[in-house]
Amino acid sequence: MPLKNEKPKVAIIGCGQVGTQAATLLALNSLCDLILYDVIEGLSKGRALDLSQAAVPSVFDVSITAVNSLEETLDADIFLITAGKSRLPGMSRTDLVNVNAEIIGKIAKKLSFSKKDSIFVVVTNPLDVMVSIFLKKSGRDRAKILGMGGILDSARLAYFISKETGISPLEIDAWVLGAHSNTMVPCFSLTRIKGQPADEVLSSNQKEKIVEKTRMGGAEIVSYLKTGSAFLAPGASAAKLVKTIVEDENFLLPVSVYLDGEYGFQGAALGVPAIVGRNGIERIVEIKLLPSELEALKVSFKEVKEILSKVN
Ligand code: LAC
Repeated sequence: MPLKNEKPKVAIIGCGQVGTQAATLLALNSLCDLILYDVIEGLSKGRALDLSQAAVPSVFDVSITAVNSLEETLDADIFLITAGKSRLPGMSRTDLVNVNAEIIGKIAKKLSFSKKDSIFVVVTNPLDVMVSIFLKKSGRDRAKILGMGGILDSARLAYFISKETGISPLEIDAWVLGAHSNTMVPCFSLTRIKGQPADEVLSSNQKEKIVEKTRMGGAEIVSYLKTGSAFLAPGASAAKLVKTIVEDENFLLPVSVYLDGEYGFQGAALGVPAIVGRNGIERIVEIKLLPSELEALKVSFKEVKEILSKVN
């Protein structure tokens, strides 16, 4: 932990679009100093200079440093790991598994030399598989490794409920659990729309349409962008998770965490509700779900385990 008057240091590992968006939003909050790293020479330096020069018009005051090696990031308090390839049209997140497993494995080994209480937020896809690999290769405590998928999927669910109902997404508390993949599990039993249970507000037809849109939320954006995947909402969701840790907010959030019996699952990471604070996962919360939601979670977990068994 940093000294009282020092800002926590957040290392952004991967300065592509998601890393850059997250770094920008974190800088705007002035909550932490940033260390930027990317394997592509010059990228972290360019991004750090560009973002630093945004300080006056955007009104923030943080230190932004570029480094050329992972060794130079080791004194960070939090690592935001966005490194890896992103999807192109026609690809699923799972298609990225081999190339990204190698990248994440190497990063995890190098970052295992960081401070003992450092926290790792993983964003690379396929997310839940990457969280599991990061845990294995880093040898760190599972409570310190958080995968960002559920915050994004829940934000998309809120957006599509909002489009359907005309209610502001800010008045919708939406929950998506499970893997950050096509098997994600939108949980209407946990979702509240203006405080009302979603099941009382939405018809079955509406729910079906919303689930389909949410599941395809990332792929729809890839199909328009053609040369890459979404980065504004993913970066914003990653920044929110980092902010929750930095500010020790102790919010209940859907995060991917390696499971050891919770919800009846063991041996891989999956998106579940957890209290997030300065220690990372403060507690996994086992909320009562509908039998159909639990069944869907099982399918999702099985998918993660199967992919994981092929990379290991
Ligand atoms: C998405 C990618 C970033 O869901 O996973 O847009």
